[in-house]
Amino acid sequence: MTAKITMTTPLVEMNGDEMTRILWQWIKETLIQPYVDLNTEYYDLSLEKRDASNDQITTEAALATKKYGVAVKCATITPNAQRMKEYSLKEMWKSPNATIRSILDGTIFRTPIIVDSVKPFVSTWKKPITIARHAYGDIYKDVEYRVEAPGKAELVFTGENGEVRQTIFEFKGPGLLMSMHNLDRSIQSFARSCFNFALDRKQDLWFSAKDTISKTYDGTFKEIFQQLYEQDYKEKFEAAGIQYFYTLIDDAIARVIRSEGGFIWACKNYDGDVMSDMVATAFGSLAMMTSVLVSPDGYYEFEAAHGTVTRHYYQYQKGTETSTNPMATIFAWTGALKKRGELDGIPELARFADALEQAAIQTIEDGVMTKDLADLSLLSQKKVLNSQAFLSEIRQRLDKILS
Ligand SMILES: NC(=O)c1ccc[n+]([C@@H]2O[C@H](COP(=O)([O-])OP(=O)(O)OC[C@H]3O[C@@H](n4cnc5c(N)ncnc54)[C@H](O)[C@@H]3O)[C@@H](O)[C@H]2O)c1
Repeated sequence: MTAKITMTTPLVEMNGDEMTRILWQWIKETLIQPYVDLNTEYYDLSLEKRDASNDQITTEAALATKKYGVAVKCATITPNAQRMKEYSLKEMWKSPNATIRSILDGTIFRTPIIVDSVKPFVSTWKKPITIARHAYGDIYKDVEYRVEAPGKAELVFTGENGEVRQTIFEFKGPGLLMSMHNLDRSIQSFARSCFNFALDRKQDLWFSAKDTISKTYDGTFKEIFQQLYEQDYKEKFEAAGIQYFYTLIDDAIARVIRSEGGFIWACKNYDGDVMSDMVATAFGSLAMMTSVLVSPDGYYEFEAAHGTVTRHYYQYQKGTETSTNPMATIFAWTGALKKRGELDGIPELARFADALEQAAIQTIEDGVMTKDLADLSLLSQKKVLNSQAFLSEIRQRLDKILS
């Protein structure tokens, strides 16, 4: 066996929870550590460790990403009332992803892993659709209030030059209130990340919002995109033979369903959250969706788009084998290693990551897969394996590619 690949700069490794934490270890042991002398700065973002550190560990992991530039993250539990009890938490800690995003800013790009034998539910889709999700503000940083009794709700802004006050609603009885914010700076960096990513991929960029209803909030998003496009990107897009256009979110959905794919769809934070699950499911499986957060300062955080696969974890705890799909987590590792290789000038690291992706796709093409894909694959001969056996099959193909 040839010598392991050496890394010069640490990769920020953020471990997580439940079934994905188990997969994390297996992926490292089977597919990465035998080939790469892994140099990582390790942060354990399991719910227990977040609770013990009063969630400081999440902030430290995000700051380490700023220091080193590239991170790979395992899926983590976002606590709710039930998790508070299950883990006897001190507090209902915020979503680690939301904390990391608010420190790094930037945009999340989600792209499905396409395998020939798994046909999308939407028959016209031939190429991947990448969802670019704005990763700052809106309902993820909102302030909510439960109105219990009649009263007047007002929006008050106290600025350097005085106060602005607008009536939101005069409540006659119980109801709900919510306020949210965003920043021009963040929207600009969202737009720039999208324009740069489109140029990098040589794919059209669509941006959708609801400016007909939300004239100021969504209208500002639309204006900022248009202004930056005219000012800095129009010529580059024309030279690359690609297009940028804005359309209403409802029209975008209709066009997406009729399209053949192969473009980037920029969405506001909540739209991107929901639409990326829709696109992932329609392409086949949530377990086949990759995700990367690209910050305006050029920091990258790679992860799978899915969660911790709780149902499988409870089975695993009972000693039952599970057929959890590790593809998106493998691609989080390959994405991060490839980027480290590019930034540090280690082409063999990028080549290794490509070979691992190729081996993983080849395995499924050969009819060897996890249970979630078995129902979707068009192949007549299928071998459905548990996660560890599936990883071993990938390793066999990887060894052939590398030999
Ligand atoms: N990025 C993240 O860290 C992230 C994202 C979403 C949810 N979560 C957390 O994950 C936990 C579980 O949430 P959930 O059930 O809504 O989402 P989930 O993605 O874990 O599961 C959703 C559904 O998809 C299936 N699924 C997902 N990934 C799969 C895989 N790799 N192989 C096979 N099947 C797969 C699951 O069995 C389930 O039916 C929650 O605590 C939530 O807070 C974390």
